[in-house]
Amino acid sequence: LLSDDRDRPLRGARLVVSAGPTREALDPVRFISNRSSGKMGYALAAAAARAGAQVTLVSGPVALPTPPGLERIDVETAADMHAAVMALMGEADIYIGAAAVADYRPSEIAPVKLKKGRGASVIALTQNPDIVADVAALKPKPFVVGFAAETDDLENYARGKLIAKNLDMIAANWIGREDGGFDSDRNALQVYWPGGAASLAMTEKSALAEQLITLIAEHFHAKNS
Ligand code: CTP
Ligand code: CA
Repeated sequence: LLSDDRDRPLRGARLVVSAGPTREALDPVRFISNRSSGKMGYALAAAAARAGAQVTLVSGPVALPTPPGLERIDVETAADMHAAVMALMGEADIYIGAAAVADYRPSEIAPVKLKKGRGASVIALTQNPDIVADVAALKPKPFVVGFAAETDDLENYARGKLIAKNLDMIAANWIGREDGGFDSDRNALQVYWPGGAASLAMTEKSALAEQLITLIAEHFHAKNS
């Protein structure tokens, strides 16, 4: 192995990362969304670029600068993110779904601002497409990594999603614990794949992202050799 291969384990790989929340409009001034700062997805995109990958970051609305050396596509809704990601999949070797995609959108978007006290207390919702599952259903499919944030029963839910969505790997984290998660600069991950698991201990998201990218690179190369 050349030293360059060890430093840049994703050299030449085309990688797409989704990050941040999506926003689903109710009316011109209101939306439904998920708690997500985008920090983990952005850290992964930056780490993948440092590892030599050709990175496209598909980003929901976040307050973060674009990391150096990658292309960023901004989207707002889950439907927009689905379209942007699927359009990139013909060319992608790896997809990392780190976005907190809204599971539902309001069935109708009011063209004018909704007014209080006019009986509009029930919002009808329509389920959004599952982006990571649709990517993993492609033939041929890229190496697909999903995320899961869970408040309870982490391993069962994460392994359930790994199987149900036909993912190659899933990175899961606890939410509602004192350190790590949403707005934090730190996190810990339990990583699962069909034949095994790894624990990445609580640390800065930039260091954690580097460790996860190393793990992804190993499994990506094992699958493609
Ligand atoms: N995901 C996606 N598209 C969606 C919903 C989720 O691509 N419409 C992806 C997320 O980016 C993540 C993975 O699916 O990589 C798991 O997301 P999660 O919300 O934990 O799973 P769900 O299947 O939506 O299950 P639930 O919210 O009920 O736990
Ligand atoms: Ca969800």
